[in-house]
Amino acid sequence: MAVLEVAKLGNPILRKIAASITADECHDPDFQTFLDDMIETMEKMDGIGLAAPQVGQSKQLVILKSTGNNRYPDAPDHPLMILVNPKLTNHSEEIIEGWEGCLSVEDLRGKVWRHNKITVSAFDREMNPISFEAEGFLAVVLQHEIDHLLGKVFLDRMRDFSTLTHLAEFEQYWRAPEEVTV
Ligand code: NI
Repeated sequence: MAVLEVAKLGNPILRKIAASITADECHDPDFQTFLDDMIETMEKMDGIGLAAPQVGQSKQLVILKSTGNNRYPDAPDHPLMILVNPKLTNHSEEIIEGWEGCLSVEDLRGKVWRHNKITVSAFDREMNPISFEAEGFLAVVLQHEIDHLLGKVFLDRMRDFSTLTHLAEFEQYWRAPEEVTV
């Protein structure tokens, strides 16, 4: 396994629509190795989620995991989830506002509005179809990661930039334990 380089804002790959993954591609050992490398990279970088375009592959693949995270100590635990070709198939009108950061947008946090409840359909790493509902924190992370497959970063989803904050200032001025931190 290997730790992959994370693309930073400005890298055109972050602005591309990611290609969907075929069953043949998914079953390719190289793809499975890439997937394991993504997991290792996310863990090494202390990320909660990672999308394939962030590590140089413009493919529809996201992973997330939030157990024992140092960057987001308030995040609820969620075991590793691997989603191939994920799609939002439904969402609530109800929205929630929370802080988001991104491994591709270093040192910044900003408040973003997201749907509180979503339905996602996708495939697992063996290409078995899965569909599930997510709410709150998990729904926010999923929307953030799926956005990466559409060439979007959280900055694009901010209603205005008045809360855009450097991490050092965030810790000093903005951090409130009751807030959802993503
Ligand atoms: Ni991100």
